[in-house]
Amino acid sequence: MSYVVIARRYRPQQFADIVGQEHVTRTLANAISNGRIGQAYIFSGPRGVGKTTAARILAMALNDENGPTPTPNIESPICQAIIQGKSMDVMEIDGASNRRIEEIRNLRENINYAPTEGRYRVYIIDEVHMLTNEAFNALLKTLEEPPSHAVFIFATTEIHRVPATILSRCQRFDFKRIALNTIISHLKTICASEKIEIDDDAVLQIAKKADGSMRDSQSILDQIISFSGQKITLNEVEQSIGVINQEIFFEISDKIHGQDLKGILLIARELFTSGIDLTELMLGLEEHFRNMLVAVSMGSVELLDVADSFSEKYKEQMERFDENDLVAYLNILSQTLAEMKWAQQPYLKFELALVKMAKMPAAKSIEQILEKMALLKKKP
Ligand SMILES: Nc1ncnc2c1ncn2[C@@H]1O[C@H](COP(=O)(O)OP(=O)(O)O)[C@@H](O)[C@H]1O
Ligand SMILES: [Mg+2]
Repeated sequence: MSYVVIARRYRPQQFADIVGQEHVTRTLANAISNGRIGQAYIFSGPRGVGKTTAARILAMALNDENGPTPTPNIESPICQAIIQGKSMDVMEIDGASNRRIEEIRNLRENINYAPTEGRYRVYIIDEVHMLTNEAFNALLKTLEEPPSHAVFIFATTEIHRVPATILSRCQRFDFKRIALNTIISHLKTICASEKIEIDDDAVLQIAKKADGSMRDSQSILDQIISFSGQKITLNEVEQSIGVINQEIFFEISDKIHGQDLKGILLIARELFTSGIDLTELMLGLEEHFRNMLVAVSMGSVELLDVADSFSEKYKEQMERFDENDLVAYLNILSQTLAEMKWAQQPYLKFELALVKMAKMPAAKSIEQILEKMALLKKKP
């Protein structure tokens, strides 16, 4: 049998299995229990956070033979047909590739047929913001007087591009980016049931890279499993997804703090010749200084999303940095990141940013000078 990717094998099949979106799933489940079924729903949020999954579960909940019920029987033929995309009553339409008015006209012609097996004809339109204006207008007419057996579920990553006339007819649910810790514990559960041994540092790095998307975290995990097999350490994660070894950021900030211009130029050159993606590197450095700023301003490393070995390092280094300097570094970095996009030779921008940071007069020492001056003034 061919390999089925983790993201598909672990697609939740009940509302309760969708993690990190309890504000949505609980509301939907309650509404179904109370028989309050809407005619149009819109699910918004970033990609890979459970919108399509929730739409399919809602379709099963509505059409379950003993339903509507918040806990559909997924073994039943009706639910199996929905899961496999074979149900005659649940239509999934990709708004990006069916964006023209003709497609919506087709939908309007079909919508009046009664459902064949279930109770409702459910239309799931993904990426609904991609529809053309004419298509939206045709859809609006349907939404104004839909047959009672019709339920629409729209999903979009760009809610601001959906016309207000459509939004006002929908119950809106905003899906959130999934919290780092939620992704971590979900990945750990998956690894346990796949009999994969994975280090905490490695899971953390994958979850960070996924940046709030559960699907991305699972795709990255898949990629690493095919690279390194059943045992995964941080080293494997770094090698296979090309994340930059965090040590380098500490080395750079060390040189910046020491105002070691020669050292910084040598590191820059070395990084450049190693073929590292400079934008990734700058983003990493930005995160590093942001971490440092959080540590310095909170006076503790507790709030940092970093591996234990690194929080020790932040603890050691935080003494050396001043909040004002860190803010100035972050400004230099974000400006450089913007400039690098258009630069003919991004390397020069990168190098210049490092030099600027290393040459910046440290706020700490200025403070010390001012203090000394104040002392001198006081002397008679
Ligand atoms: N909230 C979640 N809880 C558990 N798994 C999730 C969640 N969100 C996404 N996934 C995983 O990612 C895959 C894709 O999710 P999907 O619902 O298609 O995302 P979206 O439609 O928001 O882009 C699912 O098959 C599942 O494995
Ligand atoms: Mg989707």
